[in-house]
Amino acid sequence: MRVLVTGLQSQLARSLQEKGPRHPDLQLEFVGRPELELTQPGCAAAIIAGRRPDVVINAAAYTMVDQAESEPELAFRINGDAAGEVAAAARDVGAKVIQISTDYVFDGAANTPYAEDAATAPLGVYGRSKLAGEEQVRAANPDHLIVRTSWVYSPFGHNFVKTMLRLAPDRDELRIVSDQNGCPTSALDLADALLTALPRVRNWGATYHLAAPEPCSWADLASAVFDASQTIGGPSAQVIPITTAEYPTPAKRPMYSALDSGRFARDFGIRLPRWENSVVDVVERLVAG
Ligand SMILES: NC(=O)c1ccc[n+]([C@@H]2O[C@H](COP(=O)([O-])OP(=O)(O)OC[C@H]3O[C@@H](n4cnc5c(N)ncnc54)[C@H](OP(=O)(O)O)[C@@H]3O)[C@@H](O)[C@H]2O)c1
Repeated sequence: MRVLVTGLQSQLARSLQEKGPRHPDLQLEFVGRPELELTQPGCAAAIIAGRRPDVVINAAAYTMVDQAESEPELAFRINGDAAGEVAAAARDVGAKVIQISTDYVFDGAANTPYAEDAATAPLGVYGRSKLAGEEQVRAANPDHLIVRTSWVYSPFGHNFVKTMLRLAPDRDELRIVSDQNGCPTSALDLADALLTALPRVRNWGATYHLAAPEPCSWADLASAVFDASQTIGGPSAQVIPITTAEYPTPAKRPMYSALDSGRFARDFGIRLPRWENSVVDVVERLVAG
């Protein structure tokens, strides 16, 4: 099965690249900027028509949650229209598409993990643009999976875990929000689960949640990062829990966005590892450099 992954440099694509050799039945190819520029209509179609994959994993996205508030057109172009174009281009060559989406399509008013059919109500431009992408993908290609994940970290790119380790050497204390809760998900775990599930998909046209079990707060995650780092002689700082109100940001974020990944577990027999374990692996890699 030939799988084309967009967003070559994304955390997810780099994780898929690393995990690919464990799945020799899948032939992975990657494409990113400048060859694939999603602001250009027609670009995705030309590349997909040329490569003729069996499946496209769309890992490219506009992921700057706060900046999206001041660049809504760009966010909607990349996360909405371009996602639809990728899905349509896949359909045109008879390929299936996996669109990666986000917990930020929910408003966070729940207090139990969100199932796939829970009502969406994004609070910001990023979440709205990703929801638009889901809708466009569903409309463009019946052979799709929408896979929502959350709080992604990895040894690659930009993420909260890397930010904590970068800031720690210069600070004794870090003030971190403790009243937003979500499921931190290792892109490496996500990648491995997607590649394991792919040959097992029987019913396309479905939406799944795929995140680590058990939510925590950003402050909990920061503390776990520093515990793991300190154990191996890496940087650490004291975490001072603060409220969302004490850390205003341009984008409003859901207070609770835990995802219930039960459907993925039932259909594919795969559950992601606990974040407490995976974060140690990522911290060890980052500290080792
Ligand atoms: N990060 C999270 O916490 C999180 C949470 C939930 C869901 N997700 C979703 O998971 C998926 C993967 O996220 P990630 O964190 O791995 O992404 P990421 O590391 O932020 O990478 C995003 C990728 O999209 C590419 N991209 C941005 N604008 C583009 C454009 N105009 N044309 C072509 N490519 C463009 C970037 O290319 P360059 O490298 O050239 O800039 C980059 O490779 C995304 O769909 C995201 O929405 C992420």
